Amino acid sequence: MKKETRIALKNLGKINPENIDDYLFHGGYQAIAVALEMQPITIIEEIEKSGLRGRGGAGFPTGIKNRFTSNSCNDCERFVVCNADEGEPGTFKDRIIMENDPHLLLEGMLISAYGIGASKGYIYIRAEYYLSIDRLKKAIESAYKRGYLGKNIMGSQFSFDLEIKLGAGSYLCGEELTLIESLEGKRGYPRIKPPFPAEKGLFGKPTLINNVETLSHFPSIITNGAEWYSNMGTEKSKGTKIFTISGNVNNPGFFEVEMGISLHSLIYDFAEGIKDGKTFKGALLGGAAGTFVDNSMLDAAMDYDKLKERGASLGSGAIIVFDENQSIYDLLYSILRFFKHESCGKCVPCRIGTAQLLSLMDKLKNEENKLEIINEILFQSEMMAKTSLCPLGQSPILPVRSAIKYFEKEIISQSIIVNNF
Ligand SMILES: Cc1cc2nc3c(=O)[nH]c(=O)nc-3n(C[C@H](O)[C@H](O)[C@H](O)COP(=O)(O)O)c2cc1C
Repeated sequence: MKKETRIALKNLGKINPENIDDYLFHGGYQAIAVALEMQPITIIEEIEKSGLRGRGGAGFPTGIKNRFTSNSCNDCERFVVCNADEGEPGTFKDRIIMENDPHLLLEGMLISAYGIGASKGYIYIRAEYYLSIDRLKKAIESAYKRGYLGKNIMGSQFSFDLEIKLGAGSYLCGEELTLIESLEGKRGYPRIKPPFPAEKGLFGKPTLINNVETLSHFPSIITNGAEWYSNMGTEKSKGTKIFTISGNVNNPGFFEVEMGISLHSLIYDFAEGIKDGKTFKGALLGGAAGTFVDNSMLDAAMDYDKLKERGASLGSGAIIVFDENQSIYDLLYSILRFFKHESCGKCVPCRIGTAQLLSLMDKLKNEENKLEIINEILFQSEMMAKTSLCPLGQSPILPVRSAIKYFEKEIISQSIIVNNF
């Protein structure tokens, strides 16, 4: 904990998450008070200047999205939606925030809603997150009682209502436009972009969708200023990020650190190295829709653009570490099985493609022409990336290409061994 820099997790372990007074005692709801003294456009400018980028996976500049949503129409109804679906394998950071500091998320949503002129917000959360849901419900109830939600918040002209909506646990419903379909009470099928949610989102109205962690940075940015925030991190990846580290490490868990930290430091200083004295073979960065890396990437900086330049992705901040004994073939198989399971079936390239990828993996195990089959897997994933309707079908190329780049020989040799995954 010594070396962490905590913003989204600043109150973790310090407050009772079920007691609004404790949150207030630790400076809670002071940021919205400061924000309400500012012009809404100044809020957007501060978020832009801070350099904050979306923590849900895509790393899109948050301020720009706020500005788009605010500019998309005059005096129309707008919504703020918090994406608390957290479906990416290996990711469990949003749950930590919601369970331990639900008012921080509420305050972030209030600030963002005031900035863009929204008077209604939703938190879309997966139904299995029982404790998060319970604590959010209690937080919303007490915020209403104390005048931090509802009409004329803190005596101002600003009013904001907030509701929780439960998702049934489909991975695709974390994708912003599919999430909107689900919020509208429809089946979780993706919509074609454009139009983007900032222009035409929930019920056809401009909608700002941000991840839990992203919104949890708003109060500190408003209280301490954009410059304070942008002094942390790297040139283009500012502030802090929560990394969730799992797999064969001594100290799995969540760590909030400044952007730009090396993968080596995360694994060896924070997660305390590889378990049982074994050696590091590789890691999967960013979850199922992420990229495999091997030890040549241990020096990589956790920075959206620098990772991209090296063919890797930061995604939601999930890092699944594996030691010398783990089978890359099995890991890739498991990821591709996940995509097949989660494909909604709306478009052919993804519906058929995800099934074909799995049967190619089986073929790889059972047939001799392994190089040819590997090329087929690559070709199939590339075709899916080019032709699928939404990012789910466009994702398998990332783990497939990176697994082949770093571990091709091993995938071939492991596909000969009988695997018991
Ligand atoms: C298949 C898929 C699943 C996603 N799941 C999540 C999720 O669980 N939580 C999340 O915040 N973003 C998720 N996203 C990203 C969202 O579409 C969107 O980029 C994000 O909510 C925007 O918020 P941000 O800018 O604060 O990151 C997912 C994207 C895809 C393609």
